[in-house]
Amino acid sequence: MKIISISAYQVFDSRGNPTLETEIVLENGLRGRGTVPSGASTGQFEALELRDGDAKRYRGKSVFKAIANVQDILAPALQGRDVFDQAGLDQAMITLDGTPNKGRLGANALLGISMAAAQAAAAAQGEPLFAYLGRGRGNLLPLPEIQILGGGAHANWRTDVQDFLLIANGARSYAEVMEMTHNVYHAAGDILKQRGKYFGVADEGGYWPEFKTNEEPLQLLVEAIERAGYQPGRDAAISLDIAASDLFDEPTGTYHFALERKKFSTPEFAALLADWCARYPIISIEDPMADTDWLGWQMIFKALGRRVQIIGDDLFTTNFERIRAGIKKGLANAVLIKLNQIGTVTETMAAIRLTQEAGWLPVVSARSGETEDAFIAHLAVATNAGQLKVGSFSRSERMAKWNEVIRIERELAGHAQFIGGEIFRKILPDQ
Ligand code: PGA
Ligand code: ZN
Repeated sequence: MKIISISAYQVFDSRGNPTLETEIVLENGLRGRGTVPSGASTGQFEALELRDGDAKRYRGKSVFKAIANVQDILAPALQGRDVFDQAGLDQAMITLDGTPNKGRLGANALLGISMAAAQAAAAAQGEPLFAYLGRGRGNLLPLPEIQILGGGAHANWRTDVQDFLLIANGARSYAEVMEMTHNVYHAAGDILKQRGKYFGVADEGGYWPEFKTNEEPLQLLVEAIERAGYQPGRDAAISLDIAASDLFDEPTGTYHFALERKKFSTPEFAALLADWCARYPIISIEDPMADTDWLGWQMIFKALGRRVQIIGDDLFTTNFERIRAGIKKGLANAVLIKLNQIGTVTETMAAIRLTQEAGWLPVVSARSGETEDAFIAHLAVATNAGQLKVGSFSRSERMAKWNEVIRIERELAGHAQFIGGEIFRKILPDQ
């Protein structure tokens, strides 16, 4: 099935920033679209997001160069090719770019095409995207990781810790996760209203965190779980994204909590996190240490790795070689998976496979700047990844993904599987 045209144009993400959408038309007239998300607390090892940097247009954030790279370089090379050859299309783009970080053409230019090709191919096959991508083998509904409070780069640094999330590990179905999350999210909102601390939501839909310390939100989460009628730890547990690369001062090798005017050496920071894990029902921590502090990662993994999921986001940036090095060194037991950190669907799926083959868990993730594109819901099911992180339980760019899983479950009918918190048995012998 031949591609007859590829076009790209500028649309806008959930923060109102420009991003790129790509449309592919096939010889039978069917189409596929891909809309590229964008991070705010991006890792230094991510593939390059090409923006124009022209202060007079969209405050430097327009993506007209990436669009031109699609129209002038990538499209002419790919038109006429078979849309079912996803790996071949992605490899051709990687070769045309020719840099290790997609810095010439832009990872956003490549990813729009890569996502659109998969969508168009699924349409041509007459299959939903998850079935096409998973070659019919994907049927595991993901356990969601849902943000209740959003701090860090997503809330003007109101707290240093970036994400305070909920994992409904006791839920027996995806529908039950939705119900529990709804109840806990709104219970947290009620508590904030009663305390005069309800100030709307941050970038990913979690409540704006108005606190004096980075620990107070943990107490609020426990209270919200209880107020909603659940038992913390058994029914619903806490997950954190520390996003520690943003807190790390490289020259002095120290971690900083600006909110509390506190500084920590690597062992002190590891001890703080271990103490939180001893006193709160925390089941997962993402980026507990900075992406360059590998000794810190080994330290935290040694302390917590048998009972807490330790996820590398900035550490791995969905990059095959970085994940492979991390597996060798035993830095973590899970990998955050973001399409735009690496720039093609093929490389993203290879990163997921590598993670699974090592006995680690992949967590498919959205970005803080999202769109209505629900590609990642399909990717999670297609690969039987088992977990999905999309931000909170409000704002339609987030709900679009949670709702898409509901549609996929209907599509799978009796074949859908949900194992919920059981997934952690694969990595956490002491849970
Ligand atoms: P980002 O944040 O999309 O702003 O990078 C998400 C995360 O750190 O997981
Ligand atoms: Zn993260």
